[in-house]
Amino acid sequence: MVQSLTIAAFAALTSVAAAARCQNLTIPISVSARNGVFNQTNPTNAIEATNFALRMSRQGHNYTQESLTGYNTVSGNYQIAATYCEPDAGPGKVVQVLTHGIGFDRSYWDFSYNNYNYSYVREAVDHYGYSTFAFDRLGIGMSTHFTDPINEGQIWIEVAALRYLTQGLRASSIPGVSAKFQKIVHVGHSFGSSQTYALTAADPSISDGLVLTGFSQNGSFASQFILGSNFIIANTVPALSSYVTGYLAPQSAVGVQIDFFAPNSFDPQLLQVAYQNGQPVTPGEIMTLVGASARPNPVAKPVLVITGEHDTPYCGGDCLATGNASLPSIPAASRMFLPNAAPFQAFIVPGSGHGLNFEYSHPTTYGTILNFLAQNGLAAK
Ligand SMILES: *[C@@H]1O[C@H](CO)[C@@H](O)[C@H](O)[C@H]1NC(C)=O
Ligand SMILES: *[C@@H]1O[C@H](CO)[C@@H](O)[C@H](O)[C@H]1NC(C)=O
Ligand SMILES: *[C@@H]1O[C@H](CO)[C@@H](O)[C@H](O)[C@H]1NC(C)=O
Ligand SMILES: *[C@@H]1O[C@H](CO)[C@@H](O)[C@H](O)[C@H]1NC(C)=O
Ligand SMILES: *[C@@H]1O[C@H](CO)[C@@H](O)[C@H](O)[C@H]1NC(C)=O
Repeated sequence: MVQSLTIAAFAALTSVAAAARCQNLTIPISVSARNGVFNQTNPTNAIEATNFALRMSRQGHNYTQESLTGYNTVSGNYQIAATYCEPDAGPGKVVQVLTHGIGFDRSYWDFSYNNYNYSYVREAVDHYGYSTFAFDRLGIGMSTHFTDPINEGQIWIEVAALRYLTQGLRASSIPGVSAKFQKIVHVGHSFGSSQTYALTAADPSISDGLVLTGFSQNGSFASQFILGSNFIIANTVPALSSYVTGYLAPQSAVGVQIDFFAPNSFDPQLLQVAYQNGQPVTPGEIMTLVGASARPNPVAKPVLVITGEHDTPYCGGDCLATGNASLPSIPAASRMFLPNAAPFQAFIVPGSGHGLNFEYSHPTTYGTILNFLAQNGLAAK
């Protein structure tokens, strides 16, 4: 009894002593990218939003290809809202750049629900000693929103922003982050993994290691996500009224459940909170998502792909059903796209869906990621 009290008291003390120090930042960036030009107007009502989803999900078609009329260089000065965290004892040797996916903002990585029980940042900073840099993707949350959700709001300009931020961390030139890091690791979720992949496919030396969560390179199931979302015009949802017409969001928590949560893998109350804090997506992002991870990636660093067994958008609800005895999982096929990854590992989280950080299995997910980094020369200390 006395001993367990002492242990509890000690645990409380050490968790205070090891607490993350976090700081919110607003970072001006200047970026440009070669975006696609699409013969598709911004949806203006729920019927047009659904028409777009139907066009994007026709079997035997590639609507991105069919509506592509050319390319245009898009440039802009924008602001990125970010949160930098480091241990009380000072910055880690390694900083993790955390890129969220569709439907969320940077709070995906440091979710306050249930007293931060689900927070990846707290696990990485408090228990492993990393510095973390999480940001609202360009176009989302407190970062500058796009004014043209089709021809501006595409993966390519967002990858340019990720590159700009990475170079800033490398050069210690991000205002408010003066630490000099020895290594930079990129951790993405879903569309954030696609951006991490596309960044390093184009510039393999920019990163010291990749963790692609909620990811595969099999585009066959994207239509399930696009249809399952039940998209409406985002700014008809009161919390999303600041976005221009054309951004899309799920009509209710049902779409969020279909896209992100496997049966019996989550706290129903958390689903409601995830919906209330939900963020929209642009048609341009949806049109450019799959293509950006279709090319091989020469990166020669540690790469972990970690995806829920019942992930819908990237595995069609079963990552283990490959129909090929020599392919253990759909994410394992990424090995062919990443021939130089050293090492490459694909891990399937049993029972989980696409929204790994929000499911009961999050301790397995976080332990697998952080141990993979520690075992492959990317420990924080
Ligand atoms: C950073 O901003 C978010 C969103 O406004 C807020 O919830 C959080 O408390 C802020 N964190 C710090 C350390 O100021
Ligand atoms: C754009 O799409 C419309 C409607 O499908 C079609 O009539 C038109 O020819 C297309 N324009 C171009 C430039 O492809
Ligand atoms: C669809 O077309 C786009 C544009 O050409 C291409 O990048 C993408 O890889 C294609 N998608 C599929 C699933 O083939
Ligand atoms: C995607 O996965 C399914 C199911 O395992 C498989 O039949 C299909 O060939 C895969 N597609 C690609 C492009 O790898
Ligand atoms: C955090 O969540 C995990 C998984 O649901 C659970 O096992 C654990 O007991 C929780 N811890 C706290 C401190 O609430």
